[in-house]
Amino acid sequence: MPQQPLQFTHIPHPTPTPAAERQALLDRGGFGTAFTDHMVTIEWSEGQGWHKAELRKREPFLLDPAAAVLHYAQEIFEGLKAYRGADDAITLFRPDQNAQRFNESAVRMAMPTLPEAVFLEAVEALVKADKDWIPAGNGSLYLRPFMFASEAFLGVRPSHHYTFCVIASPVGDYFKGGAKPVTVWVSQEYSRAAKGGTGAAKCGGNYAASLVAQAQAYEQGCDQVVFLDCAEHQWVEELGGMNIFFVMDDGRLVTTPLSGTILPGITRKSLLALAEEKGIVIEERPYSFAEWQADAQSGKLKEVFACGTAAVVAAVGRVKFADGEFQIADGETGPLTLRLREELTGLQRGKQADTRGWVR
Ligand code: COI
Repeated sequence: MPQQPLQFTHIPHPTPTPAAERQALLDRGGFGTAFTDHMVTIEWSEGQGWHKAELRKREPFLLDPAAAVLHYAQEIFEGLKAYRGADDAITLFRPDQNAQRFNESAVRMAMPTLPEAVFLEAVEALVKADKDWIPAGNGSLYLRPFMFASEAFLGVRPSHHYTFCVIASPVGDYFKGGAKPVTVWVSQEYSRAAKGGTGAAKCGGNYAASLVAQAQAYEQGCDQVVFLDCAEHQWVEELGGMNIFFVMDDGRLVTTPLSGTILPGITRKSLLALAEEKGIVIEERPYSFAEWQADAQSGKLKEVFACGTAAVVAAVGRVKFADGEFQIADGETGPLTLRLREELTGLQRGKQADTRGWVR
């Protein structure tokens, strides 16, 4: 059934957060604890398609206890940010890429796709309504579009009803230590995804499955877990919520290929494009944990960094695992990590000319 054009209904919040309270929340910083006044919701049902597009006050959902998402985890999400530039201009970075990936995740999870234009309209409507929540300086407004199976039905089959929603949260640094290099824990016990599984989809289940290993990372005093492949437990895949890059002494940049088990990060893709333009040799190839240890020990490995929308570009200074630990070079943020981070954030915040059509 062709999708009928959607009309967004705007129902402004009757009592938006007072400016002083909003400012106190913005000053608090941190990641994902404060939320703006509004949300967007759009419903989908079998036979009707997408309908009831609303921008309205953020409030709890009324959800039937039999809603399929609560039982079979049919859910996907995205993460992108709105930035406030020095001239107060508000920008989004490659939101079309989020819209595309959202639909790729939807297809993998047997959910309906959302027209890209509707995804973008929903995100922009929320940013406009809650623009006063976008922090100045280094903060940003983290946007979380998501969709879940909202039909009350306990049989195992794709739901006949879905809810799409976008919420927003003013955020500072993802890691408590700010821009300081992070320490990672390599899990040799748990894996994140298997070939043929859902590793490349941005679905909640992948993150749920990462939590035990992430808890072990915290117990070991680490900031993030690194997953190895599930078949041989030797190839580096990705972190709990970020992709990973290795910088070699001859300038080569190595990163795990998109083989279906790792998330196709938009930050990953953007950094690869920026590096390629600089003439940096890129190797998207399997990189083993044994190689990682040997390269760190021999001094061949100069820098390691993790990247993602939430974490941006975070240097990895130290690596721990069950049998030991090692440092990456001098443990500090390396020059390429710094250069790529500055270039990316400069583009995102409108400090650098956007010659690639990435900024909206
Ligand atoms: C993001 O970077 O947007 C993510 O979804 C990852 C999560 C760790 C917050």
